[in-house]
Amino acid sequence: MKRAIIIGATSGIGNELSKILVENEYKVGITGRRKTELDNLKESNSKNFSISSFDCTTENNSEKLTELVNEIGGLDLLILSSGTGDLNEKLEFDIENSTNKLNVIAFTEIVDWTFNYFEKQGKGHLIAISSIAGIRGSRIAPAYNASKAYQINYLEGLRQKATKTKKPIYITDIRPGFVDTDMAKGEGQFWVATKEKAAKQIFGFIKKKKTVGYVSKRWRLIAILLKVIPNGIYKRI
Ligand SMILES: NC(=O)c1ccc[n+]([C@@H]2O[C@H](COP(=O)([O-])OP(=O)(O)OC[C@H]3O[C@@H](n4cnc5c(N)ncnc54)[C@H](OP(=O)(O)O)[C@@H]3O)[C@@H](O)[C@H]2O)c1
Repeated sequence: MKRAIIIGATSGIGNELSKILVENEYKVGITGRRKTELDNLKESNSKNFSISSFDCTTENNSEKLTELVNEIGGLDLLILSSGTGDLNEKLEFDIENSTNKLNVIAFTEIVDWTFNYFEKQGKGHLIAISSIAGIRGSRIAPAYNASKAYQINYLEGLRQKATKTKKPIYITDIRPGFVDTDMAKGEGQFWVATKEKAAKQIFGFIKKKKTVGYVSKRWRLIAILLKVIPNGIYKRI
């Protein structure tokens, strides 16, 4: 039986992925701040879910992860789905700060802990949910887009490190467009995927050990477009 941890399993994409993993005979450690949501998942399959309820921005993530891995008996896969961000046209520092605390500081601690664990073990698969938002900046949610750019870049660095080890360590960067969860914010949303569809596609990317996966898949086209829009035009959008 394979072992996995999902950080941010209480709702949205992480919650759906948790259900898919137990259906596919993984033993899964699930985390998030809302313990009731974790209890609900555990009730659906008490044998294969283990719970650890904690806030990634205030707790020692490395300690929490070590405890959870010991409880589930190992680790083959870690999915980092916890994330936050808000529209912040007035540049309120509290909003930017809480985004950075989770999407940058806690993210770094979690992916580094995971990489080191997998390197020592000689194998493993790290998946993090970044965003299409990480491709360019945003006047509406500056910290959110910048933090997602950090994640994309950081994961690329870890992928280089993984290749150098010559061990079967895989790093997958999932970049959703819009998915129908509380995180989908702002006007003019389009191509909104259901969280069920998003999780199913992500599981497909995990099985193929993809380097980068766009969710839904056609968001790859938007990514290409975003990358080629000249700065002179982009700054007016
Ligand atoms: N939905 C979209 O349109 C979209 C698009 C692009 C990228 N994404 C990314 O996808 C990822 C998953 O988001 P989602 O769409 O599934 O939204 P979601 O339903 O709001 O899920 C966010 C998860 O993050 C957890 N979380 C938030 N703050 C936390 C903290 N301080 N400590 C620990 N866990 C925390 C939440 O759990 P608790 O509140 O219980 O702690 C929840 O499980 C995020 O990284 C998001 O940026 C989403």
